[in-house]
Amino acid sequence: MAADWDKRYREGFYAGKNEAHGLLTRFSPLMPRGKPVIDIAMGQATDLLFLARTGLSVYGLERSSEAIRLASEAAARERAGLAIAQGDAASLPFRPAVAGCVIVFYFLVREIMGEIERLLVPGGLLIYETFLKRQNTIDRPRNPDYLLDDGELLGYFRDLDLLFYEEGIFTVGSKQRALARYVGRKR
Ligand SMILES: C[S@@+](CC[C@H](N)C(=O)[O-])C[C@H]1O[C@@H](n2cnc3c(N)ncnc32)[C@H](O)[C@@H]1O
Repeated sequence: MAADWDKRYREGFYAGKNEAHGLLTRFSPLMPRGKPVIDIAMGQATDLLFLARTGLSVYGLERSSEAIRLASEAAARERAGLAIAQGDAASLPFRPAVAGCVIVFYFLVREIMGEIERLLVPGGLLIYETFLKRQNTIDRPRNPDYLLDDGELLGYFRDLDLLFYEEGIFTVGSKQRALARYVGRKR
């Protein structure tokens, strides 16, 4: 629920998390220039601000007012151009073929998987990383509705050529994470 996320951000749950995800920094050089990057459920926009620093135009969708407040403050501090839409990712407010890249980190709504790839221009990149259901064997329980089955992410993006995929249990910082990581390019 949005209120839960607001509370988490207000209480500083993600404070000090200022580094872009490794999958993003690794594949950002392949992003086409000249078209915006859309981050679905951008949180406090750490990834988008990293991309803005490289000269890309960035657009975030997020439901939590608190996350948006933190993202806006960070963007203002950096004088970064960050466009934000507040809304529910279950109904994406974007036209098809508008994005050079779509990024999704630690967010899953299965109903929009088909729409996500339609946002990309030909040659555009999708970068997606989130938890597997196996995460519940190593950490606090999360709602399995928002966790991936093994191999599941690979099955969604029919119009994309696969550039990179891995899944398994990885060490991220000091923590064990059961993750799927996907990068594909629109034909
Ligand atoms: C785990 S955080 C990930 C944030 C960011 N992508 C990252 O990896 O740093 C999940 C985010 O999804 C947002 N969120 C949850 N449900 C949403 C929805 N239906 N529509 C848009 N954002 C949502 C939350 O507010 C939260 O910021």
